[in-house]
Parts: sequence; structure tokens; C-alpha cells
Amino acid sequence: MEAFKKIEALLSEIENSDVTTLDKLEAFRIQYLGTKNSIKPLFAEMRNVPNEQKKDFGQALNNLKNAAEQKFNSLKESIEQNAADNEKSSLDLSLPSETNLLGSRHPVSLVMNHMINIFEKIGFVVEEEREIEDDWHNFTAMNTPDDHPARDMQDTFYLKNSVTNLLRTHTSSVQARVMTKQEPPIRIIAPGRVYRNETISARSHCQFHQIEGLYIDKNVSFADMKQTLLYFAKEMYGPKTDIRLRPSYFPFTEPSAEVDVWMGTDTDTTKRLTKGTGWLEVLGCGMVDPKVLENCKIDPEVYSGYAFGIGIERSAMQKYDISDIRLLFENDTRFLKQFSSAL
Ligand code: PHE
Repeated sequence: MEAFKKIEALLSEIENSDVTTLDKLEAFRIQYLGTKNSIKPLFAEMRNVPNEQKKDFGQALNNLKNAAEQKFNSLKESIEQNAADNEKSSLDLSLPSETNLLGSRHPVSLVMNHMINIFEKIGFVVEEEREIEDDWHNFTAMNTPDDHPARDMQDTFYLKNSVTNLLRTHTSSVQARVMTKQEPPIRIIAPGRVYRNETISARSHCQFHQIEGLYIDKNVSFADMKQTLLYFAKEMYGPKTDIRLRPSYFPFTEPSAEVDVWMGTDTDTTKRLTKGTGWLEVLGCGMVDPKVLENCKIDPEVYSGYAFGIGIERSAMQKYDISDIRLLFENDTRFLKQFSSAL
């Protein structure tokens, strides 16, 4: 019977196919399993097969189809296995391995962590708070009147469609957060990012970092503050470091001072950062204004305290001889990689 012979012929063709590459495998698939495969026409032969043989013929056709699929699968498997074996034998285990690149800390984090360690040694505890603040914590509680220029749209980033929500302009907002939820004695530092609507240049940016300090207890004096800040400066900038306090003004401290640290004018960076004076302005400080304590429901008759706010960027720039503050915010890996050995 002609039709049966064709099946047998195809079957042996399939069984004997010698396929060793992916290209040939694809050709095999098209020929025996594709939409125009060479098994299909045999189904049309069904009508020429005598009735009593139709069943056997159907079965033989199905076997043929299955055989093609099985052959395809086993060819595929052996090609893949071969490829894997080849790859293994081409591995050169004597080659040196790829270097494992370690990340590095950002210079701002390096300086900030150093400062945090210094204050932790004398019992200050880290408090972290939100960067999106309301104007009560950022200004009102801190005794900054409604018409104070710092509240101006020009200095403060307000959130869209809001007159009360803003990006904190200083970490002093954390003072209000802590004083309204903790009872004295309070001894905290609050590191974090702050924002001001300033023109970006080599010297100033619209975002930077501060560490706030707050100490509230009975009988806290200006001398306590000065001694703490001198200790900080010596730990941070070396045992011979000198500081000077200049009278200043902040709405939330009275009296207030600004603290400069002696850097000298030996390098271009210190010259630039100190505007040629050798003194680097590193922090603002003062005795917490009784109004602030009152706003935060702490009795100013019983408690007093001091607060300070340290800028991070300028110290980082001085320490690592960075001439442009913008480098600290661009995240250029060529810049950041240079700090990979710093701790
Ligand atoms: N918040 C002040 C500033 O950003 C710094 C400061 C903090 C001054 C605490 C006094 C006390 O300039």
C-alpha cells in the first residue's frame, strides 16, 4: 500500500536525521513540525485508504508525528548539552578573577559620621526627623515671627499649593519636634539635609547638611556650651585648634554667637573658604530663648539650655580640599571614587 510506504519512508528519514547545529535543528523543525511540514500531505491520503485500514493508517500517522516531536526534543537536548560541555572545557580556571569593586562613602557622610561620633562620646543621642516640615516647627515654635524674611518665598521652598508645608530651612525644626515630645533632660544631635532657595554657585547650594545640637536641663550655662564646642573643635580639627565666638543673632537663641575655627591660609581652598581670614565659620549657637521653651511647653523658670547648628559642607570641602560645593551633589563617580579608602 503506497500511503503506508510513504509513512515508513518519512519515519526512517526522521530517525536517521543527523542534526548537530542549531541551524540544522531549525531546518528539521520547519520540515517536520512547521506549518507546511511534510507529514501534513499524508493526512489527505486518508481518503484513498480502504475503510478497514483507515484505523491503522491513522495510528501510523500519529506515531509519525510523535516520532518527529520526540526526535526534535532529543536533538535539541543533545545540542544544548554539547554547547554546555564546550563552554566548560573552554573555561580557564587559572585566570585571575574580576576585581570586586567596593563602594565608597560620600565625603558629606564621612564628615557627618565623624561629628556624630564626637558628640556621642559625651552622651548626645541622635534624633532623625522629617525634611518636609510645617511652618510651626520650622519657624513659629522657633520664635521666628510671621513677617521674618527667612519665611519669604525667596528663601524657603514651600510645597506646591501650600502655605504651611515646606522643606526645612534648618535642622532647628528638630528642636521643636524633640521638645514637644520629650521631657528634659534632653541631649540630642540631629543630622540631616536642609534646603534654601539660593542661587547655586561654587560656594553655596540650595541643599546642604547640618547637625543640630540641643541640650536642655537645669542650670545649663553659656560656659557649658562654649566648653562643649571647644571639645568638638579639638576632636574634629586637631588638639591645637582654636575657636572664636562672635556675637550674632538668631530668633531662637539669646544670647547668640557664631563660632569660627582657625584653619590658616596655607592652601588655596582654606584661603577661599575663609575669605582670606584663616577663620572658617562652622556653626551658629546660643542659649535657647525662653520663648522657644514656652512654645514647646517646657518651663523656662525651671530649665535652660543651649543649641547649636553646624554646617557640614564647608568642613568637608576644607578637609578634602574640594573647591566647588556643587561636586558634592552631582554624584559623579569619578569624584566619589576618590573617597573609597576614607573611613
Ligand atoms: N539654625 C541656624 C542656622 O541654620 C543655626 C543655629 C542652630 C543657631 C541652633 C543657633 C542655634 O543658621
